[in-house]
Amino acid sequence: MKITVLNGSPKGKTSVTMQYVHYIQKKFPQHELKIINIAQKIKKIESDERAFQEILAEVRASDGVLWASPVYYFLVPSNYKRFIELVSERGGQEVFQDKYAAVLTTSIHFFDHTAHNYLHAICDDWDMRYVGSFSADMTDLLKAPERARLRLFAGAFFEALGNHAPTAKSYRPLTWRDFDYIPGAARSKVDVGGKKIVLVTDAQEHQANLSGMLERFKASFSGEIETINLRDLDIKGSCLGCLQCSYANQCVYKDEYVAFYNTKLKAADILIFAGTIQDRYLSSSWKMFFDRSFFNGHVPSLIGKQLGFIISGPLSQIPNLRQILEAHAEMQRANLAGIVTDEYGDAAEIEHLLQDLAGRLVQFAASGYIRPATFLGVGGAKLFRDAIWGRLRFPFRADYLAYKKLGVFDFPQKQYKRRIENAIMSLLSKSPAFRKEVNKRMKNEMIKPLQQIIES
Ligand SMILES: Cc1cc2nc3c(=O)[nH]c(=O)nc-3n(C[C@H](O)[C@H](O)[C@H](O)COP(=O)(O)O)c2cc1C
Repeated sequence: MKITVLNGSPKGKTSVTMQYVHYIQKKFPQHELKIINIAQKIKKIESDERAFQEILAEVRASDGVLWASPVYYFLVPSNYKRFIELVSERGGQEVFQDKYAAVLTTSIHFFDHTAHNYLHAICDDWDMRYVGSFSADMTDLLKAPERARLRLFAGAFFEALGNHAPTAKSYRPLTWRDFDYIPGAARSKVDVGGKKIVLVTDAQEHQANLSGMLERFKASFSGEIETINLRDLDIKGSCLGCLQCSYANQCVYKDEYVAFYNTKLKAADILIFAGTIQDRYLSSSWKMFFDRSFFNGHVPSLIGKQLGFIISGPLSQIPNLRQILEAHAEMQRANLAGIVTDEYGDAAEIEHLLQDLAGRLVQFAASGYIRPATFLGVGGAKLFRDAIWGRLRFPFRADYLAYKKLGVFDFPQKQYKRRIENAIMSLLSKSPAFRKEVNKRMKNEMIKPLQQIIES
C-alpha cells in the first residue's frame, strides 16, 4: 500500500511527530509511506504551482493519506492550515476524494480533540474515507504499551485500506447563507469611559459582510477605537516550533509581531477579534496570529481583558470552533463578552447585537467581570500547571517563574489542613456507626458553610 504522509510540523524531518511515522514505517515495511513536509515548505508550495501540483500527484497516486501533525493552539500549525486552504482555493479536493485517511498527532493532549475534530471534518468535507485518529503524547513512543497501541492503530488503518472498509461521515457540509449585510447608522453611542479598545482583524476588501459589521460596530462607540489589520503588519512567518522563546519569551523572528502583541494587545482593556470563517476555522492568518503568540509560553497574557468576536460565516455549524474561542478566552483568564455573527437575522438584528456587544464590553470592563472558567479553562490550566512544574520546567523557564508568581502551583498535596481532615475522616469512616451518621447528615453538612456565608 502506498500512503502519502502530509507532515504538519514546521520542523520538517526534525519533528517529534515524524518519529512516530518512522516507527510505523519500520514496523510495516511492506507499506510505502512517503513523507511530504507541508508546513515547513508552505512558502514554496504556495508560490510555486509546480510544487503544489507535485503534492497533488503524490496524493493521486497513493491509496491513502496520513495527516500527521503536531497540535498547535487547539488546531494544527497555521502553515498546515494554509495548505488546506490552498487545496480548496485551487480546487484540489477532487484528488483527495475517496482516499482513505487517518490522523496522527503528537502533543501534550491540550485540546488535541479539537485539532482532531478539525482534521476529521476536513476529511469529510473533501469526501475522504476517514478511518480514525491517534493522539500520541509527545513522549509516548518511549513506552512499550504506547508503541503497541500505535502499531494496532496503524495496522487497523492499513487493513481498512486493504479491505476497502466502509466509512461513515461525522460532519455535514457547511452551508453559507446568501445575505449581504449593509450597515446602518448607529442611533446611540456607547461611552468608552476611558477604556482602551483595540479591534484586530484580517478583513479583506472582498469580505463585505465582515467589513460592514466592523464599520457598524465601531460606530457604536462615542470615541475612536484602534483597528489593526493583521495583513498590514510585518509578520515574517509562522511559529517555527523552535522553542527558543521558552527561556525568556524572546521570539527568534525580527518582525512587528511581538511589539504589536506587547504594546497593543497587552495594553488594551477590550479586545475584539474579527474574521471570516475559512473552512472550519478562521483564516490561516488568524491561525498564524495565535501560533506566534507562543512567545508568551503557557502563561496567560490577556488576563482580565474583555474579549469579543465578530465573525462572518456559519459559526453555529462549527461547535468545534466555538469551543476553541471559548477555551482561548478561558485560558487567557479573559472574559468572552460575546460573539456576533452574520449567520442569523436581518441587518437590524445584527446591528442590535453589535450595539449590545459594544455596551457589554465597556460595562464588563468597568465592573471587572470575568465569568468563571468552565471545564475548558479549569482542565486546561491544570494540565499546563502539571506540565510546567514537571516535565516542561526545562526548557520553559519563563513559564515556571511566571506560574510561581501567579500562584498557579496550587497542588492539592499542599492543602495540609484538608489532608489531616481527610486522614481523620477516612479512619473514622471504617466505623459503620460513623458512616450511618455521615449518611444522615451529608446533605446538611454540605450546605452548612455556604449557609453561613449567606447569613453573615
Ligand atoms: C506554537 C505551539 C503551539 C502548541 N500548541 C499545543 C496545543 O495546543 N496543545 C498541545 O497539547 N501541545 C501543543 N504544542 C506542543 C506540540 O504539539 C508538541 O510539542 C508536538 O509534539 C511537536 O511536534 P513536532 O515536533 O512534530 O512539531 C504546541 C507547540 C508549539 C510550538
